[in-house]
Amino acid sequence: MVIRSTLILILMTVVFSLVGIQINRADDKEATAQQSVTSLPAPETKGKVSVEEALAKRRSVRTYSTEPVTLQQVSQLLWAAQGITEPTKGLRTAPSAVATYPLRVYLFAGNVKDLPAGVYEYIPKGHKLQLVMEGDQRTNVGSQPQMQTAPALFVYVADYTNTASRFGKDKAKEWAFVEAGHSAQNVLLEEVALGMIGVPMGGFEADKLRSTLKLGENQNPIYVVSAALKKE
Ligand SMILES: Cc1cc2nc3c(=O)[nH]c(=O)nc-3n(C[C@H](O)[C@H](O)[C@H](O)COP(=O)(O)O)c2cc1C
Repeated sequence: MVIRSTLILILMTVVFSLVGIQINRADDKEATAQQSVTSLPAPETKGKVSVEEALAKRRSVRTYSTEPVTLQQVSQLLWAAQGITEPTKGLRTAPSAVATYPLRVYLFAGNVKDLPAGVYEYIPKGHKLQLVMEGDQRTNVGSQPQMQTAPALFVYVADYTNTASRFGKDKAKEWAFVEAGHSAQNVLLEEVALGMIGVPMGGFEADKLRSTLKLGENQNPIYVVSAALKKE
């Protein structure tokens, strides 16, 4: 009887300590996930440059200042790309076919003030960044000189999963390209409004991006936009 009770006691101690370890691990994971999230400053919805002025001034520029861009500027540009402007349905700055939102925007930060170099995914809900990888990864975008000299690059990845399940892969691919065009133009016009410069790029290295971002077969890098300050 005593032996049986002792065995039950030992078994219970082992079970409880294992459960405790699991709970601690879950807590650790949650803490790490929270640490890797960066809240972005709230975007401005009023500016000093008209849409017409921004359209007239937009130009593809490939030579940049060596000065860093700020987190506020990056925040404003990400909002222009995919920011939520209608919270009840989660509608965004750029239109999306059947509001399926297949675009993911990754920030490749090389020289952003108050943000460690790394790759971050923009999370529209909550307007924040999720760290994907630490360290400057701009060489994994491609070999064009402005891909290395721009302090920040926005890499568009299309995730076809949701749209393809409803409308087929062909439509999903077509629409994602169209949507990337809408979104990239928003970013380019916002850059003009902020006195910044950049260029949209289709000449990136897809394979390098695929392995850096660990993309699945339903995800494809489709466009890149640089963001920088004017050369003095
Ligand atoms: C789909 C697309 C892909 C582009 N790819 C690149 C690129 O890889 N590298 C680059 O320097 N410019 C690229 N550009 C920018 C064009 O060269 C530029 O828009 C064109 O020369 C017209 O100049 P503008 O943008 O100043 O009006 C691309 C533009 C588009 C629309």
